[in-house]
Amino acid sequence: MISSKDSRRLLGQHFTPEPLADFVCSLGVRSPADRVLDPACGDGAFLRAALRRLWALGAPAAAGQVSGFEIDEACAAAAREAAPGAAVTAGDFFRRPPEPLFDAIIGNFPFVRQELLSEGKGFLKDVVRGEWLFDYPEVDRLTGRADLYLYFVFHAARFLKDGGRMAVITGNSWLHVPYGKVLREFLLSKLGLVSVFESRAEVWFPHTSVNAAISLIERKGPAREVTFVQLGKPLGPGQEGLPEGASARRVPAGPLRSRDNWSCYLRAPQVYFDALERAGARLVPLARLASIRRGVTTGLNRFFLLEKAEAERLGLEPEFLVPAVASLKGIESLSIRPEHARHCLLVVDRARDGLRGTRMLDCIESFERDAGAALRSPTLRGREPWYRLSLPEPADFLVPRFRRERHFSPLNPHGIAVADTVFAVRARERRHATLCCAAANSTLFHFCAEVTGRDNMGGGFITTYGPEIRALPVPAPACLEPFAAETGQALAELCRRPVLTMARELERGDRRRLDEIIWRAIGVPLTMLDDLCGEFAGLLARRKAHGQMAGARASSGGTGPAGDVPNDV
Ligand SMILES: C[S@@+](CC[C@H](N)C(=O)[O-])C[C@H]1O[C@@H](n2cnc3c(N)ncnc32)[C@H](O)[C@@H]1O
Repeated sequence: MISSKDSRRLLGQHFTPEPLADFVCSLGVRSPADRVLDPACGDGAFLRAALRRLWALGAPAAAGQVSGFEIDEACAAAAREAAPGAAVTAGDFFRRPPEPLFDAIIGNFPFVRQELLSEGKGFLKDVVRGEWLFDYPEVDRLTGRADLYLYFVFHAARFLKDGGRMAVITGNSWLHVPYGKVLREFLLSKLGLVSVFESRAEVWFPHTSVNAAISLIERKGPAREVTFVQLGKPLGPGQEGLPEGASARRVPAGPLRSRDNWSCYLRAPQVYFDALERAGARLVPLARLASIRRGVTTGLNRFFLLEKAEAERLGLEPEFLVPAVASLKGIESLSIRPEHARHCLLVVDRARDGLRGTRMLDCIESFERDAGAALRSPTLRGREPWYRLSLPEPADFLVPRFRRERHFSPLNPHGIAVADTVFAVRARERRHATLCCAAANSTLFHFCAEVTGRDNMGGGFITTYGPEIRALPVPAPACLEPFAAETGQALAELCRRPVLTMARELERGDRRRLDEIIWRAIGVPLTMLDDLCGEFAGLLARRKAHGQMAGARASSGGTGPAGDVPNDV
């Protein structure tokens, strides 16, 4: 719209293409008598779609049934023009009391990351808490990390009649991030979640760094089951109902309540669920066998994490330099070697007096003169003195945060320090280290990362953070130990060649040898491994194609690429 790029980001302004707005309206608006609200109507895409839907259903005076709120005056004016007769009110939705009630709430709620929200968050929390605490005390668990759209869903729900429907587009992060749990439970146990839709067949908002999902909610009390739908074809003009090629999975509320990550219901094929069920207790979460922590978070990489050449140029004393891997980019083998440590961490475990006469002290003092606010960051304020960085025990292997085409968990036999682009994993018992490393390089482990990792950032890559990595399955030691020698050999074989893209890895006999051992250990038929590998190839191809669509459309659209796409793996 007319607004500047910055205010567009702050208000989460991403306007909806017509076929998508039509599809969402066809889910939410069911009767010609429905009164319809878009709480964040932008320039009116959903108001127009609601009018089209009501006319199609035979409403004689549809305009009088449609209302919208919009915080941005310019957008609100554009919406009035675009949807003549609809009641568009300029102002903050959260300052509106929930009356009158509506039969249908539709729209595309703002995607605004929590970092941009810090100022108004207390107010949003107070509004939503005031409205829901009595009926849903868990609303208190809405954490400071929650994105703006979560608050929108809670507040909008108060505007919904009993039996009314909400069909809305939001970011998809609530499906898998820990802060989404409070919304997942709310939709399941209070409102009545009916379906969730996602599309790998097209990119709905190419200019955002967020992947979107549609939720269909009916205010009818606890959901008994939810249908997860992956759309297989792009939506067409005037889209009503599902396009061909959609795949749907109905999941009862019980398993949904016990699972912290719902993305797999949209993304994973049936064989994933079957294989996990078949393996049962023979698979355990990685966290049971290993500690998992982020690589070293320095709080200030430009001081603490230097290229080796830069440290030399500064003449820093070697005793303060710890070789480190800054990212997995450019690491081709499955086993990290000393020459991969192209950076170093500055690890200074002395007070200033003990540093007198060193280049290190000169470096600290010159940094203090120039650094300004950087030294007041929460991470640095927690250290005394600020430059004292401590290193954890060395990791046995690393699990990447970002995955694009390569899936691998490189071994770290030299105990090299790593920065926070990866997670550092260390077996709790030394005798389990090799088994864990092998399991973390199996196709099963990578597949699970693919279907439970976060793809909420757009850009075609998957991210895995602590909660997902901790839950990734590995064989229980008692199951894998009888195969210890074979497992070690299979892992050593993989280490002898470069890591390939996962699509090519799936074709390799040496990978198959490791997978078959793991599969025997967990007691699952090999036919399921074949199916899983076939499905994995398809998932990788679809994610790649989706990422390319996002990239291509973002660069042709002129508002910049979809987010900060890391180039790690
Ligand atoms: C993702 S856009 C969607 C716009 C439009 N419904 C569409 O789909 O094209 C979200 C809209 O919410 C508006 N918005 C953000 N915060 C708001 C608030 N507190 N109250 C009302 N509107 C708000 C933004 O200005 C933006 O126009």
